[in-house]
Amino acid sequence: MFYSPEQGHPLPFDPFKALVSPRPIAWISTVDANGAFNLAPYSFFNAVAGNPPQVMFASGGAPREGGQKDTVRNIRETGAFVINLVTWELRNQMLKTAEDIPHGESEFDSAGLRPCPSERVLPPGVLECPVRLECRKTQMVELLSENPERPNVAVFGEVVGVYIEDRMLQEGKVDAGRLDLIARMGYQDYTRITETFTL
Ligand SMILES: Cc1cc2nc3c(=O)[nH]c(=O)nc-3n(C[C@H](O)[C@H](O)[C@H](O)COP(=O)(O)O)c2cc1C
Repeated sequence: MFYSPEQGHPLPFDPFKALVSPRPIAWISTVDANGAFNLAPYSFFNAVAGNPPQVMFASGGAPREGGQKDTVRNIRETGAFVINLVTWELRNQMLKTAEDIPHGESEFDSAGLRPCPSERVLPPGVLECPVRLECRKTQMVELLSENPERPNVAVFGEVVGVYIEDRMLQEGKVDAGRLDLIARMGYQDYTRITETFTL
């Protein structure tokens, strides 16, 4: 089969995200200008450079005043974010933080997670997460959008601090088996890293 996305797709469900899959999940913590915490998962996410280390995530627009999700709004206001990596154990709490709750209310509270101070940026990390990347925003780029009042936005950041729980390291390397990360596939599907191989 072949289709041109600008004319829609011929399947019962849009296959696009199932094709670019799996995608790592950035569980992003931010603060707004009043110091209120926010936490939400984003799987349009990846590392985009190694030296200095840089990441990117993209947000869809939101059906509310300003047209943007809280994560993007907060980064515009305060210029920093923390990427917490999502383990198998934390999968249900991660999903809970994807719920749309009013701006200023914290998903840390609704999901029963503990914020912990970051070393180099204002937003806290998720204490329960074994890896946290502290990021300073470098650029925001408006992407093509179906509805200009709810723009898709890509956010780029420099990783200025890296926390790795010591027990996730084995002979100087990150132990993927112990870390037990999950990643997003298409539809409502996820995958868990249970097998690795070396080439
Ligand atoms: C695993 C997962 C991945 C997600 N990835 C994205 C994404 O890449 N971009 C996006 O705009 N929303 C994504 N969402 C939806 C947001 O998490 C959701 O809209 C959330 O309410 C945004 O919260 P905020 O307004 O506090 O930033 C994802 C949800 C889940 C469960």
